[in-house]
Amino acid sequence: MRKIAVFASGTGTNFDAIQASIEEGKLNASIELVVVDKSDALVIEKAKAKHIDTFVFNPKSYATKNDYEREIVSECKKRNVEWIVLAGYMRILADCLLEAYPNRIVNIHPSLLPAFKGKDAIGQAFHYGVKLMGVSIHYVNAEMDGGKIIAQKCFDVLDGMTHEDAEREIHKIEHQLYPETLRKLLEENEDEKSVS
Ligand code: GAR
Repeated sequence: MRKIAVFASGTGTNFDAIQASIEEGKLNASIELVVVDKSDALVIEKAKAKHIDTFVFNPKSYATKNDYEREIVSECKKRNVEWIVLAGYMRILADCLLEAYPNRIVNIHPSLLPAFKGKDAIGQAFHYGVKLMGVSIHYVNAEMDGGKIIAQKCFDVLDGMTHEDAEREIHKIEHQLYPETLRKLLEENEDEKSVS
């Protein structure tokens, strides 16, 4: 069983989907820690309800990104976390985390990368009028929504589809694709030694 940490900034529906997949026995992992950069994020209560440790921090209380990342790495290592799963964590990572977990950090983004990076990717794509929308899962590097793509899934934007319809479809795909992709990724790396 692989030990993972989930990083989030908001609602945590992807956290829910990953945790549900673990509970259903489909994903051989355990969420050891949930890292959150917003004290009012709903995902905190969700993690607590599942008796999962949380590390909640305010980025503004630190002089640099590496300062808070050092604490995050320490919290992860303390719990022997092997993989970091970004699920709506709206921050670019610095060297500290990237060097502590090389090729062990993944992210989900609600667009067909490399298109529509950054915030409100669904809105960006929808307003651009694209006929295909989708979700990407990728390794994380120092670039916003950059890094090698691991999986993508798309759907046709049908005539009459509203922004809300597109959003619903994206989330439906995310909640299936993320646990499934993590399952494959962790299985493929099963024989690797723990980094901690
Ligand atoms: C998800 O749609 C995820 O793809 C997106 O934030 C949402 C989080 O939802 N991430 C990004 O935009 C990263 N650039 P959730 O908190 O309900 O899982």
